[in-house]
Amino acid sequence: MKKIGILTSGGDCQALNATMRGVAKSLFHQLDKVEIYGFLEGYKGLMHGNYKKMTEKDFSGILTRGGTILGTSRQPFKKMRDIEDGFDKVKAMKDTYKKLGLDCLVVLGGNGSLKTANLLSEEGLNVIGLPKTIDNDIWGTDFTFGFQSAVDIATTAIDCIHTTAESHGRVFIIELMGHKVGWVTLHAGIAGGADVVLIPEIPYDIDKICKALKAREKAGKGFSIIAVAEGASSKEDAALPKKERKAKLAESPYPSAAYEVAAKITEQTGAEVRVTVPGHTQRGGSPCPYDRVLSSRLGAMGAKLVIEEDYGKLVVIRNDDVVAIPLAESAGKLKYVDPEDDIIASAKLLGISFGD
Ligand code: F6P
Repeated sequence: MKKIGILTSGGDCQALNATMRGVAKSLFHQLDKVEIYGFLEGYKGLMHGNYKKMTEKDFSGILTRGGTILGTSRQPFKKMRDIEDGFDKVKAMKDTYKKLGLDCLVVLGGNGSLKTANLLSEEGLNVIGLPKTIDNDIWGTDFTFGFQSAVDIATTAIDCIHTTAESHGRVFIIELMGHKVGWVTLHAGIAGGADVVLIPEIPYDIDKICKALKAREKAGKGFSIIAVAEGASSKEDAALPKKERKAKLAESPYPSAAYEVAAKITEQTGAEVRVTVPGHTQRGGSPCPYDRVLSSRLGAMGAKLVIEEDYGKLVVIRNDDVVAIPLAESAGKLKYVDPEDDIIASAKLLGISFGD
């Protein structure tokens, strides 16, 4: 008999339900007796003992369903140890775990949530992590679930902009999510045939961007598509100390990175520039087939670790093999795009400008 707690934490993504289903289906298939407790709204549910006992039926029919049947919330890691209004969050989570007599807690989360998972593991709970996020920025895994689905949506957005950009002969900028990294923008930018791709890992020079646009114009191309990551910044801003950069950003007259690039292009070239921000649509809807397969594989491995009582692990995919690594090895590290990587070199050979 195994008693498992499960929760989804942080920003949602398309394949959370598919991954929970993968864990549950595999456990129900292999064990005679298993009890699964789903905590509502992530760590909040664990803190306040807000959960529901789930049956096999709860995990049925959710492979294709976006969002999370458990709900989610952001509970910042840096505040986890703070006692707020006399409430000790870490103690409360441990108490709920112990009160329910859980054998293990399965956490579906991104970077911050996995840091908390590691903290709980260090505090003596049996924890297994599964790498969730559209950003693909979790260290130790080639892919996170949610990423490919977000790339699909972002690519469709670029495809749609392409036709209208061509009709009007305009410069279009599409701002894509990704927090501090450029994975979604890089992949969707290449998949959507963007002419310029701006990511945080390669700070841009506005002169180089304008040069690339002019070269297209000269070559008879009447329009241009620029994919900008929400975290992209200019070379000057990237060189600023963290504190100064934050202060500058807080006072910026632009709503976001794409609007800054658009204003600077218009200023230099006089071009008519339009900005499109698909925003949270990138996290919505049904998971793509790749993510359904990935989630099922990661979930099955999560169940294997539960059965083998191999705790304190994060399930990852490396070179198409699903393996487990210590939670502590990944926690607190971000996986950035490497500007020296082959994918950047190939994109440059195709003529894509990174504004560098
Ligand atoms: O981490 C996923 C993500 O969508 C990031 O790409 C983005 O920066 C952030 O979450 C947005 O957060 P929120 O949903 O809280 O606005």
